[in-house]
Amino acid sequence: MAKVREVMDKFGNKHTYNEGMEGVLATTSEICHINGKEGKLIYRGIPIEELAEKSTFEETSYFLLYGELPTRKELDDFDARLKANRALPQEVLSIMKQMPSQSNTMQFLRTVVSLLGLYETKSDEHTVIETSHEAEKLIAVFPTIVAAIQRLREGKEPIAPDNSLGHAANLIYMVNGEKPDEFAARVLDICLILHAEHGFNASTFTSRVVISTLTDVHSAITAAIGSLRGPLHGGANEGVMHLLNEIGSLDKVEEIIKIKLETKAKIMGFGHRVYKVLDPRARILSQYSERLAQITGNETYYAMSKKIEDIMKREVGDRGIYPNVDFFSASVYHYLGFKLESYTPIFAVSRISGWAAHVMEQLRENRLFRPSSVYLGDIDRKYISISER
Ligand SMILES: CC(C)(COP(=O)(O)OP(=O)(O)OC[C@H]1O[C@@H](n2cnc3c(N)ncnc32)[C@H](O)[C@@H]1OP(=O)(O)O)[C@@H](O)C(=O)NCCC(=O)NCCS
Repeated sequence: MAKVREVMDKFGNKHTYNEGMEGVLATTSEICHINGKEGKLIYRGIPIEELAEKSTFEETSYFLLYGELPTRKELDDFDARLKANRALPQEVLSIMKQMPSQSNTMQFLRTVVSLLGLYETKSDEHTVIETSHEAEKLIAVFPTIVAAIQRLREGKEPIAPDNSLGHAANLIYMVNGEKPDEFAARVLDICLILHAEHGFNASTFTSRVVISTLTDVHSAITAAIGSLRGPLHGGANEGVMHLLNEIGSLDKVEEIIKIKLETKAKIMGFGHRVYKVLDPRARILSQYSERLAQITGNETYYAMSKKIEDIMKREVGDRGIYPNVDFFSASVYHYLGFKLESYTPIFAVSRISGWAAHVMEQLRENRLFRPSSVYLGDIDRKYISISER
């Protein structure tokens, strides 16, 4: 239920508004539908489960951007364009090497995308076609940026993309210098499919608001990255890992979760503005977390996650608070060998496709976003000159 507030302004008018714009319709869209009561998610009509099973991130990205599943030739051409745009311009790489490598990885990513805009933005006329070219380039280069940031943090030289590898496998390769096995690459590919799009979430809405001014794509995506960073949004996957590390062992789960609930602390990776049942993406990720736990022989993170899920279901399930996409993605990324500070940037590697699809959709039938608020400030104040204050 939306938290609807009723307020009286100082002009004597009564207003109602939905806190956090919950349930407020901003425009129409054909990209994604979330059924929060039944826990169903579709991208352009296709259930997420089917895409996770049968598609690849590259194909899903094409589908999100252009609205149709690609033919073999269209997919091959799209794939070739992505591969051709994976490398970072040398100038950008040189500047990245001078940036504070220990800074927050999302801030780093945001800054690099903004920097890329200086090289890529050719004019201030942004057609949907031009925007799609820019968007493809961004989808292609995001893994290279994220991997380079991680390596610079570790005092290592960034690794150039390997075009014999798919999008997901290449990301793993550029982070650790080793080509992943097929299963690890496929699991990351599925993670990227699952995180690619999710309707009018905060970062996607941000990208649409920014592009609605008819500014450039890099500005819209830079703003979206800033929004995704927050712990109430994409940053929650790192919060989950902090929680798992804080708990540390299976026997401490019950006690620590109970204390947190008693003190009204939020459990990261749980709850959702739209889903009031289990997020369908969490169901899929939970299965992969379990399989990776078995393969790696490191069951603790999955076992702790599962126990937290059970306790939360028992304690707050009746309030519609269930695992969201971030909950099991934390242990999956851990098992895939990613460092904690890469988790939210990996989310961005995927979500760039959704942002781009929304930016293009917004441009097709644009009207500037400009909502209103209820003014509750003073209405009859005298100006006091500075010498008298
Ligand atoms: C995602 C989220 C921001 C949605 O929030 P929202 O729709 O604004 O809902 P609210 O924050 O108003 O929460 C509603 C109630 O549920 C509780 N709640 C929501 N998420 C909770 C969580 N993860 N742990 C414990 N309690 C939670 C709130 O404390 C609040 O209780 P109250 O009514 O007694 O004050 C919220 O669930 C959250 O902060 N989750 C943790 C962060 C997270 O995982 N984010 C990723 C989302 S994909």
